[in-house]
Amino acid sequence: MGKLITRFMIMALPLLLTGCMWSGTGPQAVPELPPVNSTREPVSSQPTSEAPTDPIVLGFSQLGTESNWRNANTTSIVDAAEESGVTLIMENAEQSQEKQFEAIRSFIQRRVDVIAIAPVVQEGWEPILQEVKQAGIPVIILDRSVNVRDGSLYVTFIGSDFYEEGVKAGKYILDKMRNFPGPVSIAELEGTLGSTPSIDRGRGFRDTIKADSRFQVTHVLPADFTEEQGRIRMETLLEKPKAEWPQVLYAHNDDMAIGAVEAIEQAGLNPGSDMIIISVDGTRRAVDYMIQGKINAVVECNPLLGPLLMQATKEIMAGRTLPKRMVPPEDIFTQETAAMEAQDRKY
Ligand code: AHR
Repeated sequence: MGKLITRFMIMALPLLLTGCMWSGTGPQAVPELPPVNSTREPVSSQPTSEAPTDPIVLGFSQLGTESNWRNANTTSIVDAAEESGVTLIMENAEQSQEKQFEAIRSFIQRRVDVIAIAPVVQEGWEPILQEVKQAGIPVIILDRSVNVRDGSLYVTFIGSDFYEEGVKAGKYILDKMRNFPGPVSIAELEGTLGSTPSIDRGRGFRDTIKADSRFQVTHVLPADFTEEQGRIRMETLLEKPKAEWPQVLYAHNDDMAIGAVEAIEQAGLNPGSDMIIISVDGTRRAVDYMIQGKINAVVECNPLLGPLLMQATKEIMAGRTLPKRMVPPEDIFTQETAAMEAQDRKY
């Protein structure tokens, strides 16, 4: 059994299938790096080519517990570490970049073999990553990206293409509302300000809907990727005169969409018909909401990154070259495909 050292609250999290690689329709056993979209660049990962005899120690700074996606991501990493015999030291930053810096410095002090970071926001990483480089510890960026000028500060970035997710959401809305006379007013529930998924999902969506001038984002509501904020923001929006209500809600994640659904129902409206709703992630709850007709479509964002993280960690320690960028294949689910998808949901 692999060793696990963690101060992260995981006790209430559901167990997920592990030891597998991802796919849009369910995990598949894959012995090598999965068929991800990747940009292969030779990257020198500092460790020697000698295989270590002691268990590999991975320090992981997880950014928080804001959503069901995040909890599934944490569980995937914990389970994959255990399965693969990697010793995991995980710290929960509770949405604070400062706490992430503290965790990273503690990993340096403990002389871990590899550091993985799921960054809460994308700016401000250059100095701390320089410290890690000075210490000679390779870095894996996971889930969200960092905006740094010096690409040698990390070995690889494993995570979704958030811009593409926004594009998929935009294309869905253009198609769904193609016969609507217009104008089409859209409310956007944003995730954590300054985070890559919030920035890129917004950009991808706007770049796509501008193809049709009838479509306008009329309300931009920051809601931190949480269900509670999604509900509160929608409640406030629905207190405005009816003429200002949007026809469409685009939520940057499922939790915020589910919170908004509650507020829409409380206002006596029917989510999914009185207001068209699209979100991102593909959690089981959101798929169930699609089956009930309360959400119209969900763009998939796969949180099950644990197996690939462990594999990348081992490859680095074996001195191998990794792709600079690894992107999981992802899908879009609609009410038509929701029932089929529900059978396979792991999170
Ligand atoms: O970074 C991934 C995003 O963060 C997920 O879409 C969201 O649910 C989470 O909180």
